[in-house]
Amino acid sequence: MFRMSLFSRWQSSLDQLRTQGRYRSFALPRGMDFTSNDYLGYGSSRRFPIPAEDLAAYPVSGIASRLLRGHHAIWEEVEQDLAVWHGSETTLMLNSGYTANEGLLSTIMEPGDWVASDELNHACIVDGLRLAKSRRFGYRHNDLNHLEDGLKAEAARNDPERMRFIITESLFSMDGDTAPLKAIAALAEKYEAHLIVDEAHSTGCFGETGSGCVDAAGVRGQVLASMHTGGKGLGVSGAYLACSNLLREYLINKCRHLIFTTALPPITGLAWKHMLDHVKTDVIGRRKLHENARHFRMELANHGVTAVGEHYIAPVIVGDDAKAVAAAKVLQQRGYDVRAIRPPSVPPGTSRLRISIHADHDTDTLSRLARDTSEALNHV
Ligand SMILES: Cc1ncc(COP(=O)(O)O)c(C=O)c1O
Repeated sequence: MFRMSLFSRWQSSLDQLRTQGRYRSFALPRGMDFTSNDYLGYGSSRRFPIPAEDLAAYPVSGIASRLLRGHHAIWEEVEQDLAVWHGSETTLMLNSGYTANEGLLSTIMEPGDWVASDELNHACIVDGLRLAKSRRFGYRHNDLNHLEDGLKAEAARNDPERMRFIITESLFSMDGDTAPLKAIAALAEKYEAHLIVDEAHSTGCFGETGSGCVDAAGVRGQVLASMHTGGKGLGVSGAYLACSNLLREYLINKCRHLIFTTALPPITGLAWKHMLDHVKTDVIGRRKLHENARHFRMELANHGVTAVGEHYIAPVIVGDDAKAVAAAKVLQQRGYDVRAIRPPSVPPGTSRLRISIHADHDTDTLSRLARDTSEALNHV
């Protein structure tokens, strides 16, 4: 009896998603990749194969938490290399960007602290703040005036026990625009707030050596921590925080998302080492990525279609959920793997085609996709 009512609750919730055009299911990759976050082509192509004898020498299981027997010398090397890359005091590897954000925020923020968070920040930031139970101020996307209003009001409380934080993505995952990091860092300094930057989508792709927007903007010294995922531009699994020695030590002792989970396997550490040897000097890959993004956006505009933002994540807002799905389907039938992004990943009424441009796309295909996108939108 009880079981039936639980099942029918799930069924009616799923039925509602179907009616709304928000039902989700897995689909195997098919067609040219314009949807993944493999911006530099490291994840899917074999750009830097790892020698078989190296592979054989590294375990494929983490076997225990890093605080127990799951620690391995490869992680010390990787974390050291990453710190040198960023010019940060240190880095700390965690299992994914989701756990890194959730773990960081829930560990360092205490009830009573105050945090300003861009309203378009990723779900794992939202969840980290929920766990943290600190006071939240959602500021309008990239709106410096709104952010400053919040900071000013909070600073006026003049309570030295209550810490202030600001958190933003650097390149927004669903909008393709960047946060004004220099200006945000200046506000953080003015109002004595601690700045955290999520570089999930920018790592590998911005800055001379690819270390991301914080370093490219020259604000490393003004940032409490930056979070970098491996599974997007870097083509490896895991994520890390670039931070101070003291914050690393604090997290190792307090962060439940690090303490109570099995470490990443050492073989993944080997993949990080190989990727790092490559990404720092991949100037050509980064140049091609940004050139491709400019070319695609220009071609779209020539067909009368606007993509919001300005970089290699090119979102075309459709609005209606079902229409976005239908437009994606037209493109899929023409051989492109383009997906519709719907709520709750984006705000209601802003469903979109999120077209992800990569360094290894060729310009003719990009021109054709721009034309086909315009035709797909006319179909729905
Ligand atoms: C902005 C942002 N932060 C964090 C994450 C989570 O990273 P990961 O996929 O490594 O868990 C994502 C991934 O979807 C993201 O887009």
